[in-house]
Amino acid sequence: MKKFGKVGAVLVTLGALSAVALAGGPVDQQLVIDGEIEMITRTEAPDGHPLDEVISGWHYRTGETRALEADTFENPGMLFVEQGEAAWNKIEGTEGKSCASCHGDASESMAGIGAQYPKWDADSGKPINVELQINKCRTENMGAEPLPFDKGGQKELTAYIKHQSLGTPVSIDLDAGDMQSWWKKGEEVYYTRTGQLNLSCASCHEQNNGNYIRADHLSQGNINGFPTYRLKQGALVSVHNRFRGCIRDTRAEFPAAFSDELMALEVYVTWRGSGLSVETPGVRQ
Ligand code: HEC
Ligand code: HEC
Repeated sequence: MKKFGKVGAVLVTLGALSAVALAGGPVDQQLVIDGEIEMITRTEAPDGHPLDEVISGWHYRTGETRALEADTFENPGMLFVEQGEAAWNKIEGTEGKSCASCHGDASESMAGIGAQYPKWDADSGKPINVELQINKCRTENMGAEPLPFDKGGQKELTAYIKHQSLGTPVSIDLDAGDMQSWWKKGEEVYYTRTGQLNLSCASCHEQNNGNYIRADHLSQGNINGFPTYRLKQGALVSVHNRFRGCIRDTRAEFPAAFSDELMALEVYVTWRGSGLSVETPGVRQ
């Protein structure tokens, strides 16, 4: 599976961006949350994956950042998960219902659910992520407006739902509906070089994971920790925001959130992280 240039060539391109490209691998440590939940942060890659091992971004962060995620009281993302819980219980829309009115206690009704997204949605004939499923329930079941991208508590509610799968291995159903062709389209997006820097996702996250770019230790770019808390921003960051940021960094035009292109990419990148525990809310720099 060699669809791109040699590693050396990529390092030269990256050299334009970074003063130093130091080698360094993922740290060898185990993530156990609150001394209880043993997380799968390294696992054998699924069939057809270009790498042998799938590794969580947690392994590439500093000791301080890793420690924050290992303790739910210290994890700054948990504040937003609590806000998500409030949103879960808030009555909105013309039907006078909250999420809880139908789904009850999320720790039961949503347990393990977030680990299965994106899922095939037969109604729209497309894959759907948690954000879009929330909007589907708002419009179809609550008589409420859909939440705009990253606004109105969308990240918080998504994080709350995903957090109910903390520790559950990511596993999406690629046999449902037309998921295969979305996976294929996502793979294409992943390997397409874009922007003035002519880089693809793979240039950084496949060929150079473990290397440094500027001060950043490049991970495999998995999304099992999303929405994730970024210390730099002091806020939760959604998957599509992260994708757009990475594409922008290659100095390319970036597609709209929830566009077919980014939904396909979400299907493909989620699959690349198959078997990793959901870490939401992950903590990253
Ligand atoms: C009037 C009832 C109703 C309300 C209110 C409602 N939902 Fe739903 N929801 C459903 C139904 C029906 C389904 C589809 C069948 C199913 O999966 O249980 C569903 C499905 C879901 C799923 C997918 C579950 C899966 O197995 O993949 C999620 C996630 C979800 N809802 C979240 C929410 C959230 C978040 C809210 C509040 C913003 C909400 N729902 C409000 C009725 C409701
Ligand atoms: C120029 C290099 C570069 C390119 C190209 C790039 N990224 Fe990134 N990306 C980074 C850096 C640097 C980070 C922050 C450190 C890390 O987690 O790897 C990052 C982080 C991420 C993360 C967060 C990982 C985590 O554990 O929180 C995801 C997801 C991601 N990138 C996906 C992508 C996707 C998808 C593409 C292609 C559309 C892409 N990136 C293209 C440099 C790049």
